[in-house]
Amino acid sequence: MCGIVAYVGSRSAQPILLDALNRLEYRGYDSAGLAILNGKGLEVRKKSGRILELAKACEAHPVQGNLGISHTRWATHGAATDQNAHPHLDSSGRLALVHNGVIENYLELKSQLSKTGHRFASETDTEILAHLIGEAFQASKEKGEARLIEAVRNAIARIHGTLGIAVIHADLPGLVVGARRGSPLVIGVGQGENFLASDIQALAPYTNRVVILQDQEIVSLHADRFDIIAPLGAKTNFKVEKIENGVTHSDKGSHPHYMLKEIFEQPSSILNAFRGRLDSDGATAKLGGLNLTSEQLRKIERICVLGCGTALHSGMVGKYLIESLAKIPVETQHASEFRYGDSPVSAHTLFLAVSQSGETADTLGALREAKRRGYTCLGICNNVASTIARESDGGVYMHAGPEIGVAATKSFTSQVTIFALLGLLLGRLRSLSASHGAELLEALTHLPHKIEETLKHSDKVAQVAQKYAATRSMLFLGRLANFPIALEGALKMKEITYIHAEGYPSAELKHGVIALIDKDTPTVLIATQDGVYEKNLGSLQEIKARGGPVIALAHEGDKKIMGLADALLEVPQTHRLLQPILNVIPLQLLSYHMAVALGRDVDKPRNLAKSVTVE
Ligand code: G6P
Repeated sequence: MCGIVAYVGSRSAQPILLDALNRLEYRGYDSAGLAILNGKGLEVRKKSGRILELAKACEAHPVQGNLGISHTRWATHGAATDQNAHPHLDSSGRLALVHNGVIENYLELKSQLSKTGHRFASETDTEILAHLIGEAFQASKEKGEARLIEAVRNAIARIHGTLGIAVIHADLPGLVVGARRGSPLVIGVGQGENFLASDIQALAPYTNRVVILQDQEIVSLHADRFDIIAPLGAKTNFKVEKIENGVTHSDKGSHPHYMLKEIFEQPSSILNAFRGRLDSDGATAKLGGLNLTSEQLRKIERICVLGCGTALHSGMVGKYLIESLAKIPVETQHASEFRYGDSPVSAHTLFLAVSQSGETADTLGALREAKRRGYTCLGICNNVASTIARESDGGVYMHAGPEIGVAATKSFTSQVTIFALLGLLLGRLRSLSASHGAELLEALTHLPHKIEETLKHSDKVAQVAQKYAATRSMLFLGRLANFPIALEGALKMKEITYIHAEGYPSAELKHGVIALIDKDTPTVLIATQDGVYEKNLGSLQEIKARGGPVIALAHEGDKKIMGLADALLEVPQTHRLLQPILNVIPLQLLSYHMAVALGRDVDKPRNLAKSVTVE
């Protein structure tokens, strides 16, 4: 995983690399580094910690030069130290490499290289690749740029695993070579300057003209031109794409953290998810990007949702929505499990890959596996032109705007909204009545306002958070569509507060997890009024009987619950199928306020990254 940026042009490379790298910090923030050709040779700066630490090092000792590569790391092989930070050099010290991906056979290659005298400065798999390319460069009979291109091709042929790389060599000033296998890489096309980056977002202020490198391709990049070389060595044609509205700059505004800003953006991000997609005449939804006819949509017999983390939880809510509205059986699969499992899939199954970033390696791998088996796959993504969006047969964009906080918030509610639209569309092509369709449409239009109402309780949620911030372990319970909301609440809690939290279906309490209940283990019980409200009250009583504190998530003014629970998180009432969208919001706020109370790094929690581009 990690983020890569390379620059070649006439401007000073260092500030551009640092700036662009900042936009990739969501891909990892364990260490950062850059290498620049300064006219005499390579100069490298690298530091463990955030990009800010690298920026400080560069400020203290600036590097001059118009060509360079840079990297922000999420550690896979080797701890987050200065030595393990990228770029890595070959044994001549004249070649530098940054890498996003994992080299699976690195130990075997390391031992081979060690036998021929190679010595390594880090514990990373990446350094092995730098040495392999350096060795191939020495051995090559080619001249000029062809020499480095051939060296890269020969070296990566020995690698098992994934890579997106950028390589420079002191003997070839003016050239950056990039290559991609599995990990994304895009070329940013400028005027008299060119860029290479892990994703388009990094390049937003510099250019909106991009070429998406295809798998197995190599690029040779100069200030005034670039060539793309196909796997067999021939130059290949490419298309320069203009990215419109794909990326916008995002700052925190008046909010202390991106996460809080993004929680508070939900009235508008939800609106953007359904804007222009409601068809009140037909009491249905319009989803133009599915690339499937009504006839094809009617033939779908099953749906399989693939995703990871929060995206998978949204799929679990989506299951309830689609099954209720369209009566199509839906299964959800951890993308990482589906990819390597033998699970049989029946004919006429539609796959849905859900991913905010559109770059999650496990989800992408699962999507490719489903496509390999011959199924139609749609993507539900936020990042425009991301790999999953491009490789899907069609899909629905969330239009949620950039989500910077590592803990996903607004993307979750946008995803669930899209599942509601999809359920409505599929339902209306089947047995869902126009009046039920119209009810849902009506409720959707009021949802942004209901979210505003929900957000007004933020201060009260903060008080609850203060009360329970010292806890070491928590439970989150909910039933039916609120079970995945319980999972999502627990995930948010773990991610940003580091408090142990588990989500369960409420009734599972008595089958084991009840053993954890004591006076120091609070339970968040989602008990908004629905068909299982009374059952949830039963669970509440069981917890109270064992001395466990209960934080109840209930409808505003629910007097019954007020009298029983130790603390209350309130939400307004909406259509029963949309209620999970409101219910997750106090849980996002609870984890946020607890993380703040504990002094955690809310937007960049330890060990995590926003987009996990390794499996
Ligand atoms: C990582 C993030 C999670 C996120 C998951 C899926 O694990 O830390 O917050 O839910 O990836 O991300 P995606 O971009 O595919 O939605």
